[in-house]
Amino acid sequence: MTIHPLSPRLDHCPESLPRDAYIDPDWFTRELETVFARQWLCAGRLGDFPKGTLRRRTLGNAPVIVIHGEGGLSAYHNVCRHRGAELCAEDRTAGRLITCPYHAWSYSAADGKLVATGPAKPTADFDPSSHGLLPVAVRIWQGFVFLNAGPAPAPLTADVPLAALDNWPIAALQVGHRWEKEVACNWKVFWENYSECLHCPGIHPELCDMVPIYGEGIMGASEALGWTPEQPVRPNLRDGAESWTPDGKPCGPMFPALTDEERRRGYSFVTIWPSLYVVAHADYVRAVRIEPMSPRRTRLTVEWYFPEITLAQPGFDAGRVASFARTVLAQDGAAAEMNQRGLASPAFTRGRLMPEEYELHRFHRWLLKAMGEAA
Ligand code: FES
Ligand SMILES: [Fe+2]
Repeated sequence: MTIHPLSPRLDHCPESLPRDAYIDPDWFTRELETVFARQWLCAGRLGDFPKGTLRRRTLGNAPVIVIHGEGGLSAYHNVCRHRGAELCAEDRTAGRLITCPYHAWSYSAADGKLVATGPAKPTADFDPSSHGLLPVAVRIWQGFVFLNAGPAPAPLTADVPLAALDNWPIAALQVGHRWEKEVACNWKVFWENYSECLHCPGIHPELCDMVPIYGEGIMGASEALGWTPEQPVRPNLRDGAESWTPDGKPCGPMFPALTDEERRRGYSFVTIWPSLYVVAHADYVRAVRIEPMSPRRTRLTVEWYFPEITLAQPGFDAGRVASFARTVLAQDGAAAEMNQRGLASPAFTRGRLMPEEYELHRFHRWLLKAMGEAA
């Protein structure tokens, strides 16, 4: 059967990544030094960086500080230009100066410029203007803070245009529920699981009930063998459901600026490798942050965002709304851990992708390119 040119199905079954990619400490270190040192990484929400504070974060192997000053957010490597001491050992309020605890070099918190060298009296050959803090690029999208420790950051991009969520007032939403979890798998295993629905019929009974096409093992109609664009479009959500909540009913007022199509779709995903995906529903929004901890451990930070008016409803229970996606995420976490345990077997060398796993294939090519380009 021919594959329609608009279908994302693969026309072959490519190999997956080698086993080392999931277990080998050297591979993991290479990823930290290339991908995580050069890509935009989500560091949280703007609300996690209150005005007047200094917050520490780590990008790959790079410790950085984020300062919310008068002019907004700025970020620097957490390293003194004198002899490389760590500048800030803890989160604190941001003063006018950042002073190194070792020999008291001081930098302006506003622009990172070196303003004093403590008791040291440099000679004329020393140029303070070329010894400011090393900057880290900052970009804010929909209230999410992205940092890039690389020397020449490319623009922030996602799998779809970033404007895809422009009709959602995400920056103005409040965190109603938060869930942190460490999963015993390589960070890529979690992304891979996110990137296909072949596992949905076996792993996600509740989700397949909510989104009938997932029960067929595909994420969208265009993935089906024999699909053509002329086929009538079926709704994503089951009859009567409007959002991903335990009963399918919206948990509060719908976002007013959504188009009919955006409301009807039931969910809109935006994926920003390697650290974030956002799922926007007609009444609330959810984001999942993915951080590698070690070759075999990954931290997930999941947040649910709601409008004030929804949170203020008498008896509103954000945890109940979140329980639907938490069930699904727990199933995905268990599947990823099962995958990791098998990948660790010395009998396994590398897998083979199916035509429906086009997104995994795209992820693998993206990763190898990002590792190769930076190496
Ligand atoms: S290392 Fe910071 S002042 Fe010496
Ligand atoms: Fe899943």
